[in-house]
Amino acid sequence: MKKALNDQVALEGLASSSYLAMASWCEVTGYKGAADYFYAQSDEERTHMIKVIHYLNDIGATATIPAIKAPSGTYKSLEGLVKTALKNEQTVTKAIHKMVELAHKEKDHSTYAFLEWFVNEQVQEETKFETVLQKFDLIGRDKIAINEIDKILAADAAAPEADPAV
Ligand SMILES: [Fe+2]
Ligand SMILES: [Fe+2]
Repeated sequence: MKKALNDQVALEGLASSSYLAMASWCEVTGYKGAADYFYAQSDEERTHMIKVIHYLNDIGATATIPAIKAPSGTYKSLEGLVKTALKNEQTVTKAIHKMVELAHKEKDHSTYAFLEWFVNEQVQEETKFETVLQKFDLIGRDKIAINEIDKILAADAAAPEADPAV
């Protein structure tokens, strides 16, 4: 269980750095709203990583701070980038579900309870990116449509995030 939690620290760290790479790409490409959105997303993943680190330390299993491999920094389009983000989230969801199963099997009730927040968070995260992807079908993929989507992402980045635990 501790190994799985430490792996999760690395996975959240990787998510944070890949969203940072996405934010940076958006910034240099001129998608200001999407850049704000992914910078915020990167910060959020860092808070997830720290949540797991605190938990490991709290249960007396000193967290291991991992080396984080460099994310890919180039994307073909904003839509492609969001698709990659959704895939990342699906990978994270799978890892969390596996941990829930392990906690259940090991009768580790505290970890099981700790993970509930993450289970709910992942539902939100996947929905978030799916909703962004729908915008390309609804609004379009030409320059004006992408500019519109960029504005929507700017508004999303400015809006406070709902806590899944509430
Ligand atoms: Fe996360
Ligand atoms: Fe996430």
